[in-house]
Amino acid sequence: MITTKACLFDLDGVIVDTAVYHFQAWRRLANELGFDFTEHQNEQLKGISRMESLDLILKWGNVTLSEEEKIEWATRKNAWYLELVQQMTPNEVLKGVPEFLRSLRANGIKIALGSASKNSRLILEKIKMIEFFDVIIDGNDLTRGKPDPQVFLLGAEATGCKPANCVVFEDALAGVQAGKAGGMKVIGVGDAKILHEADFVIKGFEEMTIERLF
Ligand code: BG6
Ligand code: MG
Repeated sequence: MITTKACLFDLDGVIVDTAVYHFQAWRRLANELGFDFTEHQNEQLKGISRMESLDLILKWGNVTLSEEEKIEWATRKNAWYLELVQQMTPNEVLKGVPEFLRSLRANGIKIALGSASKNSRLILEKIKMIEFFDVIIDGNDLTRGKPDPQVFLLGAEATGCKPANCVVFEDALAGVQAGKAGGMKVIGVGDAKILHEADFVIKGFEEMTIERLF
C-alpha cells in the first residue's frame, strides 16, 4: 500500500548546488569586513536564513554592526549572490532530480518545495524546474526558520497531506531536524556523518527510487 502522498524538497543543495554561490557571496562579505571563514564553518550556514547566517558570520569575525548596517550588508551579499544566480542554467540541476520528480508525478505523489530562501522562485525559474512543484513554501512565508518545522508543516498542509504521509529531502542538519520535528520521514542528501539524524542518507538522486519512500 502506498502511504506517501507528498514529497517536500529543500532547494539549495538538494535540487541545485547553490550552496557554493552562497559561500562565495558570504566570503566576499567577510573579506570586505577584514576576515575569512572556512568551508567547514560554512556547513553551519546551510538551511539557515539570511539574517541568521549574517549574525553567525559576524560572530566568527568578531564584528559588531548596528541593525541598519546589518541590513545593508545582507542586501549587498544578496546582490552578489544574485549576480551568480542570474548566470544559472538548467544544466545545474543536480543529477537524477528531474527523473525522480517525474516518477513522483507518475505515481500521483504531490511535490512541494520547503526552502528558507527568499530567492527560491527566481532560482526555480532559472533552472526551469518551477513547473514540477504543486506547492512552494519559502523564506517569504516563514516566521520561524529551520530547525523549526514550520516550513514543512505549511508545505504538508498546502498539499493536503498529513505529516506522517510526507517525506522530506534535506542536505542540512537544521533541515533534517525540522522535518523530524514535524513528524515526517526525512531522507538526507549528502554526507551521512553530518546528516545522521535522517532516516537514511543518499549521496544523490540517482540512488533514489519510489520504493525507498515507504
Ligand atoms: C537556504 C540556504 O536554503 O536559504 C542558506 O541553505 C540561505 O544558506 C537561506 O542562507 C536563505 O537564502 P536567501 O536566498 O533568502 O538568502
Ligand atoms: Mg539546503
